Amino acid sequence: MVGEGTLRIQPDPAQLAQAAADFIAAQARAKPNLSILVATGNTPMPTYIELARRAEAGAVDFTRVTAVQLDEYLGVSDADPRSLWGWMRRSFVEPLGITRTVRLENPEQFKVALAELGGLDLAILGLGPNGHLGFNEPPSQPDAPTRTLTLTPASLASNAAYWGKLDVPTGAITAGMDVILAARACLLLVSGTHKRDILRAALEGPETPAVPASFLRRTALTVIADEAAWG
Ligand code: PGA
Repeated sequence: MVGEGTLRIQPDPAQLAQAAADFIAAQARAKPNLSILVATGNTPMPTYIELARRAEAGAVDFTRVTAVQLDEYLGVSDADPRSLWGWMRRSFVEPLGITRTVRLENPEQFKVALAELGGLDLAILGLGPNGHLGFNEPPSQPDAPTRTLTLTPASLASNAAYWGKLDVPTGAITAGMDVILAARACLLLVSGTHKRDILRAALEGPETPAVPASFLRRTALTVIADEAAWG
């Protein structure tokens, strides 16, 4: 089981977004030059909209934050609607007024850029229906490095929901488990009944490469989930 205070249950996705925005804004106030690993996907979008609203209102300042890309498909151009770099820019970087970014293009360059940053202060993560973090597909060991890989059928199926009639690229690059688990704080956002079983497995099952998210319990972890996801 996870430690007390780690798991915060919210009644619905709107209140999940408020609680997550509170958490992230507090971190940015405490350390204005925060380095944040940024998940795309559906779950964090209402949180990012709320953060943008607060930034616009002058309630919090993200201009000194560095946003670090979590994952990407291989072989998609910047102009491609499926570019996760594009999704991160549109949903997080631009609306929050962030000017510093680290793009994930190859493992070596990423490692150097992270070292120059002094590591990650915060990793904002979604939970894959198969327990993946970023594109660290099962099985992923806790020391799995930043690497290119082939997506599993489960991730191809879940990602298909993002792109309408466009195919999901099968190749991907992901920040490694080693990078995620080294973040000084991790924030896992989980919404919906379809995540219920995998969330239980991640928080209450054995730590196992079969559920990469189970290794998050080794970190300074906060989980914000809605009642649909926790039950
Ligand atoms: P979701 O994706 O937020 O769209 O559910 C999470 C993930 O696959 O990592």
